[in-house]
Amino acid sequence: MPHSVRGRARAQCIAVGTAVPERRLTNAELEKMVDTTDEWIVSRTGIRERRIAPPGQGLSHLAIAAGKNCLAQAGVAASDLDGIIVATITGDYVMPSTANLVQHGLGATKAWGFDLLNACNGFVAALSAATAYIESGHASRILVVGGDIMSSVVDYRDRNTCILFGDGCGAVLVEAGPPEGRGVVDFEMHSDGAAGGDLIIPCSGSAGILNAEALARGDQYVKQNGIVVFQQAIRRMAEVCESLLGRLSLTGADVDLLVPHQANKRIIEPTAKRLGLASSKVVLNIDRMANTTAATIPLALADAAADGRLVPGSRVLLAAFGGGLTWGACYLTWGRT
Ligand code: UT7
Repeated sequence: MPHSVRGRARAQCIAVGTAVPERRLTNAELEKMVDTTDEWIVSRTGIRERRIAPPGQGLSHLAIAAGKNCLAQAGVAASDLDGIIVATITGDYVMPSTANLVQHGLGATKAWGFDLLNACNGFVAALSAATAYIESGHASRILVVGGDIMSSVVDYRDRNTCILFGDGCGAVLVEAGPPEGRGVVDFEMHSDGAAGGDLIIPCSGSAGILNAEALARGDQYVKQNGIVVFQQAIRRMAEVCESLLGRLSLTGADVDLLVPHQANKRIIEPTAKRLGLASSKVVLNIDRMANTTAATIPLALADAAADGRLVPGSRVLLAAFGGGLTWGACYLTWGRT
């Protein structure tokens, strides 16, 4: 039975499930679409291929599959969920929320749900929100979903961005547990709206009117000032990890597994180096999955579980950086107490 004594529960991350599209888009195919090479993409990013959903297939398709997979592993019925939070920038619609579609698709009859918009830092943000609900006693079981269909907002004529992104979805079940047990120990979140224009989809809300001129400019697609975002990502990822660990009086030696957002291998490696972590302690799947925005962390958690590195009791550091700009980290011990 989950603990739900107000103010006394810990948010345990007890299972992860995923769903990715079958279709693989390789660097060799991209070479035929834009002026790029496999060698450039691999050496600058670490990416070899990415998964791409069929056009028009909404995120809820993957989110429901990932949710079912997660609940089956946890041995929890959908009807026992209190809430569903979907972190995404590419939900099926602005209204209804994808969380509501997932609630219906899973048969989570008593769960509320909402979408959370925080780009590549969306999963960490959604997990921090779920933690607050659970620690305060307002919920006992929340499905935290991170997913994106980036192919729906990528311009496959723009070599600066189209090589970077992929589609996928992951879900983690967060359940109330005893206060001294396993679960989320702490998290830290940051924002810098001043640099918001450096990673933006110009026509994606009320400020961008999608008229003929905007369509011709491709303003419905992701635009990125790559080098500026890259430099900020390297700085902020390491900074937030060190700050969070420092606040907990911990060091890299207290981390069994770094599960970072997968934007660029050249961002992840310096972060791990700053923390003194061996490559065996760093989850990297960017070669196969590319940057799936809100899905990167749950997809990486699932890979680590599959290869035996993520086990009950593992001390895990999550870290992410993305459009906003926004960045965050979360330190937790995995599994049910
Ligand atoms: O997940 C959200 C956060 N996002 C990130 O953290 C991504 C951060 N940015 C990056 O990962 C990197 O900046 C990129 C991978 C996007 C770019 O790598 P870079 O080493 O920073 O390259 P660059 O932007 O400095 O571009 C170098 C050159 C340019 O040519 P010129 O102007 O020097 O002649 C680009 O036009 O590489 C060119 N270029 C390409 N060449 C071949 C850009 N994209 C490509 C490409 N293939 N696909």
